Amino acid sequence: MLEISTSILTVEKDNATKTFYDLEVAGTDYYHIDVMDGKFVERNTEKMMYEYTNIIKQISNLPLDIHLMVENVKENIDRYLPLNPSIITFHYEICKSDEEVIDYINYIKENNIKPAISIKPATNIDKIKKFLPMLHMVLIMTVEPGKGGQKLIPEALKKAKELKQYLEKNNLDTYIEVDGGVNKDTIDMVKDAGVDIAVAGSSIISADDFKEVISELK
Ligand code: DX5
Ligand code: ZN
Repeated sequence: MLEISTSILTVEKDNATKTFYDLEVAGTDYYHIDVMDGKFVERNTEKMMYEYTNIIKQISNLPLDIHLMVENVKENIDRYLPLNPSIITFHYEICKSDEEVIDYINYIKENNIKPAISIKPATNIDKIKKFLPMLHMVLIMTVEPGKGGQKLIPEALKKAKELKQYLEKNNLDTYIEVDGGVNKDTIDMVKDAGVDIAVAGSSIISADDFKEVISELK
């Protein structure tokens, strides 16, 4: 069954607590926390995402799916460790060497958190194949990272499908998550690609009835 990780990037501050509560009641499987540092991507959401995550921790036990779109990976892992996230994802493109990738994966694992790598639409899955046995999940961006409400890039789903086939062929149980532009119109393509988790932000947060849209996506 496809799991839904709701991105809280577009949640309005003034009713954030109620929104997070309503999302749990509506059946989201994860909260997707989009941490942006204003360097790896243009926007800076560090303060807002940290505040929102603390609010979520006070009202929910649902797993946190942290998506780090940052240059300083270690500093941001350290900031979120005390909040006991389930998954921490960093971007392949920020790493200068394979050793750096492996260093982050091990650091996340040593802190009993599930490690994941994200690749931008232009990054080929061949770049991350060697890390798959070490990874809990691969987050395949179906939009350019940096903001919500963008259109899903179908070519990126082809990568997800290719990765799924590669994982099956090599008997690997690494999860695949896609992120960006997932909505009622694109969810069937997402399912056809065989992914395990779909991140949805604006298509859920902008809906009047969270339960209806989350059930429909699932
Ligand atoms: C973009 C973020 C995504 C985005 C998803 O950089 O990583 O998680 O918030 O939002 P939608 O579902 O609106 O594309
Ligand atoms: Zn994200």
